Amino acid sequence: MTIQLTDEQRMIHSMVSEFAREVVAPEAHKRDQEKIFPAQILQEMGELGLMGMMIPPEYGGSGTDTMSYVLALSEIAGACASTAVVMSVQNSIVCESIYYFGNEDQKKKYLVPLASGKHIGAFALTEPDAGSDPVRQKTKAVRDGDDYILNGTKRFITSGKNAQTVIVTAKTDDSLGHKGITAFVVSKDNPGMKPGNLEDKMGLRASDTTDLIFEDCRVPASDRLGEEGKGFAIAMKGLDGGRIGIGAQSIGVAQAAMQATIQYTKERQQFGKSISKFQGLRWIIADMATEIEASRQLVFSAAEMKDRKENYTMQASMAKLFASEMVNRVTAKAVQMHGGYGFTKEYAVERYYRDARVFTIYEGTSEIQRIVISNGILQDKRKL
Ligand code: CAA
Repeated sequence: MTIQLTDEQRMIHSMVSEFAREVVAPEAHKRDQEKIFPAQILQEMGELGLMGMMIPPEYGGSGTDTMSYVLALSEIAGACASTAVVMSVQNSIVCESIYYFGNEDQKKKYLVPLASGKHIGAFALTEPDAGSDPVRQKTKAVRDGDDYILNGTKRFITSGKNAQTVIVTAKTDDSLGHKGITAFVVSKDNPGMKPGNLEDKMGLRASDTTDLIFEDCRVPASDRLGEEGKGFAIAMKGLDGGRIGIGAQSIGVAQAAMQATIQYTKERQQFGKSISKFQGLRWIIADMATEIEASRQLVFSAAEMKDRKENYTMQASMAKLFASEMVNRVTAKAVQMHGGYGFTKEYAVERYYRDARVFTIYEGTSEIQRIVISNGILQDKRKL
């Protein structure tokens, strides 16, 4: 690692690395195969301060910087990407959105249990017909006295079944485009919000992904997050941080895939020697290591910009784009280098390959990241 870490960052990295190796990794394969949500592990992560890392202690968090968060998230992802996505959505999107846009009451009521890891959070923006283009969402929130009444369906919601607290966006004025979208915080106890069936996914199978159905869901106006019409900007801001998180997850999974490949190629004998002695395979490992390091620099740079409170929207998209595409190349090569064994569930590279596939899709596809980056570079935002 070329970046100079502080003593605190080093300490967090080493603590999480040990926890990931000893607690998170051992049952990751079983959880993936049996679709077991890592509830106990997430509770322990909360106790270690990993579920609201960038939130100050007075709101239940551990008050670390983004760099420490990225280091920790990469370690968890290398052990179990399903656990990492729950951690990522919770830290980057849910906790930070309430911290930056919530009022004091909302912070006490919702942020403290989330940041301390007692509650799991979800972020509900996507809909069946509104993925890359969330402005087209159809969920409506109609003002009724001191409440809003929400109706609609959200799709592909990470932790949709297990979350106690959900940030949801809805249209409060259909005529205003993105300025007609408002964010709300909704508790699992609200009888108007129900999770749909679990998606049967290719990867991240231990994390639950569901629809969230809102049927005459009455939400007090006091649980509106930010002003009316600010929901889209809140979601975009949350996704900026989220995209650094996907970059960190990508590094973690890629690093794990490379390490598994190094071990395998050293042990595997063909043509009378270890296959790690063949130049063709050595060069693939060299490419893997180089690409992982390049991704790390992009993710660290975006994290540092965020910590310096600079505008990091474009750098977050660059980090997400490059790292998520990198991990797909690295895990595909890892499977290839394991030969027939890489195609079996006996070797972890098969899981890494499946888990990595969604990284170029969720929290903004690679194509969306290229829109954000080109708008940033050309400084002449092209209307979609
Ligand atoms: N931060 C703050 N505000 C922002 C912003 C940002 N990063 N990006 C845009 N905005 C604001 C703009 O300033 C603008 O506001 P004003 O008019 O007041 O200036 C407003 O938002 C609209 O911006 P655009 O005109 O750029 O919006 P657009 O409709 O052209 O779309 C987009 C831009 C980048 C394509 C955006 O729609 C986008 O990111 N789409 C992808 C959505 C996405 O990532 N979905 C994933 C869902 S979460 C998930 O994956 C599930 C999970 O649980 C893990």
